[in-house]
Amino acid sequence: MLPGGIDPHTHFDLDIGITKTADDFYSGTRAAILGGTTTILDYATQNKGETLCKAFEKQVKKSKDVCFCDYGFHMGMTDWNEITSIEMNEMIKKGVTSFKLYMAYKNKLQVNDGIIYQALKRSKEVKGLIAFHCENGDVIDVLVKEALKNNHNAPIYHALTRPNILEEEAITRLLYLAKMTDACVYVVHLSTREGLLKLVDAKKQGIKVHVETCPQYLLLNEQSYDYEGEKYVMSPPLRKAQDNEALWNGLKIGDIETIGTDHCSFNYIGQKNMGDNFSMIPNGAPGVEHRMALLYTYGVLDSKLSFNQMVALTSTNAAKIFGLYPQKGTIMENCDADLVVLDPQHKSKIKASMQSQNVDYTPYENFERQGLMRYVFLRGRKVVENERLIDDKPLGKYLHRKPYSGGM
Ligand code: URP
Ligand code: ZN
Ligand code: ZN
Repeated sequence: MLPGGIDPHTHFDLDIGITKTADDFYSGTRAAILGGTTTILDYATQNKGETLCKAFEKQVKKSKDVCFCDYGFHMGMTDWNEITSIEMNEMIKKGVTSFKLYMAYKNKLQVNDGIIYQALKRSKEVKGLIAFHCENGDVIDVLVKEALKNNHNAPIYHALTRPNILEEEAITRLLYLAKMTDACVYVVHLSTREGLLKLVDAKKQGIKVHVETCPQYLLLNEQSYDYEGEKYVMSPPLRKAQDNEALWNGLKIGDIETIGTDHCSFNYIGQKNMGDNFSMIPNGAPGVEHRMALLYTYGVLDSKLSFNQMVALTSTNAAKIFGLYPQKGTIMENCDADLVVLDPQHKSKIKASMQSQNVDYTPYENFERQGLMRYVFLRGRKVVENERLIDDKPLGKYLHRKPYSGGM
């Protein structure tokens, strides 16, 4: 038995302008709970010119009464002004105690260093925590234009125009700003060995930083771009086997504290396979349903992690960092009884044809899966038995999270 999983990084019902994610809160949280994840934290995003309150209201509307697991929000900020600064505190009062800033996606979500600096100072004042997408968007923009000019259109160029060094650079820049402001930061979806080395160094210097990676950066590499490569176009891109290895090691020794999925699903047919070149492919991949099983199979059973480490990485640490502990992330008296009974003997293969998430592929097609989430309990109520929902009624509740208090 283990505490219900917490996936701290999903994008459900996300409209990216040209299209919308295949999973909404209904199908996404249904897949989550079937896979042993009883809490998700999803990224609301402020459109440029919009208030954070408006973005929050929109997210509430999308998620209300349709979630099968409990859920909370981070707030992605794409604009900065006096109102945004005031609104950060308003968000905290609404239980949205973490934020996200993007150092990539130029002319879309990306913010500049001045905004990062001001937002970090403010996050310290209001007891918030900012999550960062660390890639140098300005340089990526130039590399993408150069690639297209040379008719380099295939999916592999998504990876080649986002080299490791651009994650390393963004992480380094962020760490200087964290040092200057003495604010704690959270690095999402770490994908590179070089980035990890910088983070480990910073932790040794006393810079306060939490680190997340995702199953795709542990289990997949850039060879995936060779066949139906569009399926693997996500940011950051898939890297090399040595990066996978470094990240597993980072998990083992505690330098990386959480595993999110960055679940952002688009169908292969009709969404990912459209467009003339790699820059037109919607970024993101599905994963929320398989995170727990992948970590058990390839982490615990492959002796890369202990069972206790798996619990910490898939649940407890996220609860502590994101203001949900001890309500979530542990098995203890007077706490939410979010529980998973894992059958360690059960063996199967991951197949898109068998999945619940509402998307036509999985990046983990035919991966061995050992360990079935035989029973899942949400706040003490059995909601899943033998991979089936007991009730078709969504029972998930909004989580009003506590302000950031140092995390671990
Ligand atoms: O490709 C990805 N990861 N899409 C989702 C947005 C993000 O950067 O987290
Ligand atoms: Zn991101
Ligand atoms: Zn994301």
